[in-house]
Amino acid sequence: MPTTRATTEDRSAVRTLLRLWPYVRPVRARLFTAAFVAIVASCTGLVIPLVLKWIVDGPVADRDPAGVWLGALYLLLLGIAEAVLFGIRRWLVARPLSHVEAEMRSGLYGRLQRLPVAFHDRWASGQLLSRGTTDLMLLRMFLAFPLTFLLVNGVTILVGVVIMLMQDWVLGLVILGPAIPVMWTCAVFERRYAVVARRAQDQVGDLTTVVEESVLGIRIIKGFGRHRSQARAFRELALTLRGTELRKARLLATIWGVIVTLPELAIGAALVLGAVRVADGGLSAGTLVAFLSTALALRWPVDSIGFLLAMSQEAATATERYFEVMDEVPEDPAVAGRPPAGAAGDTGLRFENVQFRYPDAPPGSPPLLTRIDLHVRPGESMALVGATGSGKTTLTALVPRLHEVTSGRITLDGVDIGAMPREELRAKVAVAFEEPTLFSTSVGENVLMGAPEGAGEPDLDRALAVAQADFAHALPQGTDTRVGEQGLSLSGGQRQRLALARAVVGRPRFLVLDDPLSALDVHTEAAVEAALRQVLADTTALIVAHRPSTVLLADRVALLSGGRIAAVGTHHELLRTNTEYAHLMSGDVEEPEDPR
Ligand SMILES: Nc1ncnc2c1ncn2[C@@H]1O[C@H](COP(=O)(O)OP(=O)(O)OP(=O)(O)O)[C@@H](O)[C@H]1O
Ligand SMILES: [Mg+2]
Repeated sequence: MPTTRATTEDRSAVRTLLRLWPYVRPVRARLFTAAFVAIVASCTGLVIPLVLKWIVDGPVADRDPAGVWLGALYLLLLGIAEAVLFGIRRWLVARPLSHVEAEMRSGLYGRLQRLPVAFHDRWASGQLLSRGTTDLMLLRMFLAFPLTFLLVNGVTILVGVVIMLMQDWVLGLVILGPAIPVMWTCAVFERRYAVVARRAQDQVGDLTTVVEESVLGIRIIKGFGRHRSQARAFRELALTLRGTELRKARLLATIWGVIVTLPELAIGAALVLGAVRVADGGLSAGTLVAFLSTALALRWPVDSIGFLLAMSQEAATATERYFEVMDEVPEDPAVAGRPPAGAAGDTGLRFENVQFRYPDAPPGSPPLLTRIDLHVRPGESMALVGATGSGKTTLTALVPRLHEVTSGRITLDGVDIGAMPREELRAKVAVAFEEPTLFSTSVGENVLMGAPEGAGEPDLDRALAVAQADFAHALPQGTDTRVGEQGLSLSGGQRQRLALARAVVGRPRFLVLDDPLSALDVHTEAAVEAALRQVLADTTALIVAHRPSTVLLADRVALLSGGRIAAVGTHHELLRTNTEYAHLMSGDVEEPEDPR
């Protein structure tokens, strides 16, 4: 669940919507033209009552059939003009607005790629998905319709009211009677609707998360027979969302009731009053006809205000949700200010007094890593051992700067990684994590992701050989075989070996492996190790390991304990001298040489 839900209390919908301007700017000419065309179209409609008046007071009163036909022709032409103009408006806005939507969507995607891992730890994926889909669709609809029509209908109502007042100001005032209660209702409605709209859109996000998790975790759900409880959880969320949507509908129904009924009553009153005055001879029949048909022509613009406001509120909420993500600070390319200095001759991978605590760790809790000092010499491979949960994965994630150190520094060949452009850093350091993530593309592309542009077949083959992933050649389409989403069509060990191949394919200077061989059988592990030794010969490596067989791959071992590097040495040294290490490694065939 995101912890950043804004309060909707003190928000101005207009101010929020104004933030869309930079995206709308490129298409502003079209939008303004469209709005202008719509205003002209709408006002064309208002000319119709005036023609009616002319027909009633002129040809009808004079019993002139030719004049009536002529009037009818005018009406027809006006109707056609109105329809054509509205058609032009639609044509004007459709394309540029889908462009705006696409721009905003790729902006969001780009931002998501650049936001730090800490952000993604904090946000539910469904919330991000729904922002990129539902919310942006709401925004496009808003720009296409309510934005223009709030303006167009506003102008139409204004012009219509002026026309009515000019026809007869007494009747005009009768019609204007409900204006104040209607405006008050709109204001109240807007405030309440804003709150419910925000809730509904957040709930769509939560629902998306549940759907996404249950699709990705379908094996667990089936394996544990949890489909019923999962379905129940889904149903509950869906019911909550339904409740919120119904609340929206009720609010909309209420405002609609007020907005439709009050003006209707006013028109009725004006009709009675007007009829009496026509009978008295104080008003011409044509004027009354024109007046009433103007009032009727204004019915749609007034009625529509309710849902136009509703759609605008939803758009404001969508904008707010969109910018909640866009306002997050992305990773800076490099941290300025820290001198990229390092002691001359100081090479390899060095942790200096590194402290780290997760930004979302409970306040007051001690840092996970309190004081890490470690030096991995150039070309050396260092195994990192520690109890589960001791922070090994966290420590390795600091090297490619997936998380930023809280204090202290990490240097690569003497250069502070904080002062290195991220691109450069990530070109130097290759990683493979505990859970091997594959993308739904071909095996080859998955592996070559770890190589610089232009790497080809030979690099791929070499990396597959090192990682003992030659099974890839035996797949139906060889390395062009697509792996399913998350690589679920492969075995765990196969996925791990592909991830390993991805880490070594770019011949990185520094290699960070988080327990890369855990899923392999002993023979395959031995084969990978033998091949890795060649790669590791000129690569500086930090390898998290749980099994002695993996540890033996490394030149030296570091023991992580209590947030510090408690001991460094060879496997056999540590087995002899460190009881914690001996305990961690016990249960394996590699018995310590008995010093006695
Ligand atoms: N994103 C996070 N936010 C807050 N705490 C986290 C986060 N990720 C991990 N932790 C906590 O940090 C601690 C260390 O986790 P880490 O994954 O580094 O352990 P590990 O040594 O790799 O364990 P294992 O051997 O089981 O892989 C754990 O207690 C975990 O709860
Ligand atoms: Mg781990």
